[in-house]
Amino acid sequence: MHDLAQLQLLFTKYLSEEKFPAEPAELYEPNTYFLGIGGKRIRPAMALLGANLYTDDVADALPIAMAVELFHNFTLIHDDVMDNAALRRGFQTVHEKYNLNTAILSGDVLLILAYNYLGRCKAAYLPSLFAILNKTAIEVCEGQQWDINYAQKEVISIAEYIEMIRLKTSVLLAASLQMGAIHGGASFEQSEFLYQYALNLGIAFQIQDDYLDVFGNPEKVGKTTGGDILENKKTILLIRALELSQQNNDATLKTILSEKHDNPTDKIKKVMDIYKQYDIAKYTISQIDHYVQLSHSSLNHLDLSVEKKQILQSLVNVLVYRDY
Ligand code: IPE
Ligand code: IPE
Ligand code: MG
Ligand code: MG
Ligand code: MG
Repeated sequence: MHDLAQLQLLFTKYLSEEKFPAEPAELYEPNTYFLGIGGKRIRPAMALLGANLYTDDVADALPIAMAVELFHNFTLIHDDVMDNAALRRGFQTVHEKYNLNTAILSGDVLLILAYNYLGRCKAAYLPSLFAILNKTAIEVCEGQQWDINYAQKEVISIAEYIEMIRLKTSVLLAASLQMGAIHGGASFEQSEFLYQYALNLGIAFQIQDDYLDVFGNPEKVGKTTGGDILENKKTILLIRALELSQQNNDATLKTILSEKHDNPTDKIKKVMDIYKQYDIAKYTISQIDHYVQLSHSSLNHLDLSVEKKQILQSLVNVLVYRDY
């Protein structure tokens, strides 16, 4: 069985050999650009890992790996529009470098290309694979809509937040592992335990993403620090800080959120000071640990060798314990 680094390498080689059509260049070149500026390639690695748990013919799962990576990049191009984000992976986002129409259409075609790749999988598995990707794609849209709705709402509970991030982020990570496993020959029951495992790790992954948005090193993260603060995104950090402010009858944070700020750095600094005052970092890390612990309970249900379980568990290092 390969380790994660080997699987990532296998995917990067495959990706470098695949080309988008040449024309119209205005449609495809932005996608070549966006996929070329990097990314951790976590989802393709998970798809290949899922397959490799059940078969040595891991290359058979490369179209799944490609499908989930293209789907992911489609969501990012549109997400950056919705989030007003100018930077991704240390480079300009697609709508910033080109224009809004390009971000819409190049993103759209990426989504459809993702489905084309999935269609290259073994025929016997296609109905299950398409059913999983369709369900996942709808859930991601639902999660993204909650994310937008919540930015406008004053009070969001932690439970609502967890459900929102399960939808916008976790399900794709979980589906990547599950689809790979199904294609590799896992029983549906075993694939569901893998899905559940990755779902909890995926929650921890998004909480870490929220954490890095505020406390990460911008050079490494490659996104604008405090981007979520500027958009009033109901991250776990903000929800918790609002809860604690309420308990302390302190309206400062609410006021900052409702005010118009001429200087973005000003708003970020003010909110960060409140995060520090309430030690939000500590709370956030405790929640990450909680979901990592939860993921462990699925492992007992998996009929896998100790070696395979260890490789599966190494996912936590790329998903959660990361600084970019
Ligand atoms: C970013 O995903 C979007 C989220 C779901 C948080 P990644 O952090 O996997 O993005 P890349 O592909 O590595 O840039
Ligand atoms: C992204 O969540 C979720 C999807 C793209 C579906 P974020 O908006 O937090 O991701 P980043 O921080 O822009 O990568
Ligand atoms: Mg975003
Ligand atoms: Mg977003
Ligand atoms: Mg984020």
